Amino acid sequence: MTTKVFLFHPNVNGQSRANKALADAASQAGIEVRDLYNLYPDFAVDAKAEQAVLEETDRIVLQFPMYWYSSPALLKQWEDTVLEYGWAYGSTGTALQGKEVILAITQGAGADAYTPEGRFQITTEELLKPFESIRFYTGLVFKDAFVLPGTLNISDEDLQAAAKAYVTHITK
Ligand SMILES: Cc1cc2nc3c(=O)[nH]c(=O)nc-3n(C[C@H](O)[C@H](O)[C@H](O)COP(=O)(O)O)c2cc1C
Repeated sequence: MTTKVFLFHPNVNGQSRANKALADAASQAGIEVRDLYNLYPDFAVDAKAEQAVLEETDRIVLQFPMYWYSSPALLKQWEDTVLEYGWAYGSTGTALQGKEVILAITQGAGADAYTPEGRFQITTEELLKPFESIRFYTGLVFKDAFVLPGTLNISDEDLQAAAKAYVTHITK
């Protein structure tokens, strides 16, 4: 099974700590990590190139920091550009049917904020629904998400443990 990480972080080699740690651990485990902001700094996503990569991938890991209860903007641009009619959906659009997707999210806030009674009054599961709902058109199969909350205060030790758990999660 071919697994690839599609990383959507605007500055993974600069300000990132959490996503950098997760991505480095995946790379070190031999998993290809594609830095989409580096590939498309001007947001001109190459649909055909991305489709070719997706066609040779069985498990698609979409990794990103949570920004405003959603993703960084390039992930949306990537979806809108790459998931074309006749390729991703429609009667002849079957390229993604049965492929697996794992969402891998980092959050600045702690897990206690993402509960109905917590600060944000909404769960991470609910916030991820719009991403997962692309399954109805595409036939993608969403597996359990990997969620790393509390990254604003995470210790180096806990981050390393999370990175290890991430590799296990996306390779199991
Ligand atoms: C523009 C922006 C929006 C953010 N919105 C959220 C948010 O909605 N919820 C949250 O928990 N953290 C939010 N954060 C914090 C990031 O999720 C956090 O810094 C990130 O997951 C840490 O990963 P990194 O070290 O790889 O950058 C936001 C950060 C930025 C820069």
